[in-house]
Amino acid sequence: MTASTEPRRVLITGGAGFLGVNAAAHLIGRGWHATVLDNLSRPGTERNLKWLITKHPARVTFIKEDVRNATSVAEHVKDQDAILHLAAQVAVTTSLIDPSTDFDINARGTLNLLEAARKHNPEAPFVFASTNKVYGKLDHKSGPCKETQLLDFHSPYGCSKGTADQYVRDYARCFHMNTVVLRQSCIYGAHQYGTEDQGWVAHFVHSILDDRPLTIYGDGKQVRDLLDARDLSALYEIAINDIDKTRGEIYNVGGGEPNQRNLLEVIDQIGELVNKTPQFSFSDWREGDQAYYVSDISKAKAQLDWEPTIQFDRGLKDLVAWAAALG
Ligand SMILES: NC(=O)c1ccc[n+]([C@@H]2O[C@H](COP(=O)([O-])OP(=O)(O)OC[C@H]3O[C@@H](n4cnc5c(N)ncnc54)[C@H](O)[C@@H]3O)[C@@H](O)[C@H]2O)c1
Repeated sequence: MTASTEPRRVLITGGAGFLGVNAAAHLIGRGWHATVLDNLSRPGTERNLKWLITKHPARVTFIKEDVRNATSVAEHVKDQDAILHLAAQVAVTTSLIDPSTDFDINARGTLNLLEAARKHNPEAPFVFASTNKVYGKLDHKSGPCKETQLLDFHSPYGCSKGTADQYVRDYARCFHMNTVVLRQSCIYGAHQYGTEDQGWVAHFVHSILDDRPLTIYGDGKQVRDLLDARDLSALYEIAINDIDKTRGEIYNVGGGEPNQRNLLEVIDQIGELVNKTPQFSFSDWREGDQAYYVSDISKAKAQLDWEPTIQFDRGLKDLVAWAAALG
């Protein structure tokens, strides 16, 4: 008998978004076929999708759909070898204006997908992009955050993603499904059309390149550990391939201490790279903003032999080059 040469198939919800196209491009490069399910609600997604399909015309299937549509979602989980659930309402600010829609997309949408998988494809590895916001306010004294940190959902976005995070974890326990949760810190990289509401590194890059003044909410000394989307894409693949190890687990994922920066440092660095003097002013702190968040990534490192390979200085240069080439 000859071995099948059919590529493995991955369903990527939110696959036209920033992390979605990065993950799709990575997995396709590793031999997968990507089914991208996205409602294209985020500005920039059409451009991302066009880029992905142009690059890999034979390896992408696009489905314009909403994760709130449980019936349709159920159809699309069938015949997939893995599910990467990235679709979300991603901004804390938007969640404060409309908590119900935020809940419907992030909590209910995730439950829709889990139920679809439970009924139609319970064996498939199911990877969920959670967030550091499930840990609430931390400060410098807390040090890098481990998975054992108490949960303290903050903001409607933190609550809806945290709810989804706990459902995904629990489906491994109660229904013996192959689910895994990645609690992501701040991710940056090409294909990120960041705005003031979400995706701040790319937002700073696009704004400084276009000579648009920035507003910094708080003192600008908020610290984050920054991770290049290419390193995260590699981890998505590991989480799927090593599902025997990762099932039921939660991992904190970010750039770790070597890649921690505050906002003002990043602004300075971008200014130097593009040879401009960034213009900015300060405003009040925003609800749900953490003064400090740095991931302790030792669990992913020890169990999965994963760690960031792209240091922030290099990743930022690549992001600037991508954004400058957009014109
Ligand atoms: N980028 C980060 O720094 C970061 C950090 C922590 C967690 N996350 C999580 O990672 C995931 C991807 O984030 P991203 O940065 O790529 O954001 P993104 O906005 O670029 O991607 C999200 C995608 O989901 C799609 N979408 C939104 N609502 C939908 C719906 N109802 N049905 C179908 N599709 C829908 C959007 O059109 C978009 O393409 C999200 O779940 C987010 O919460 C991101």
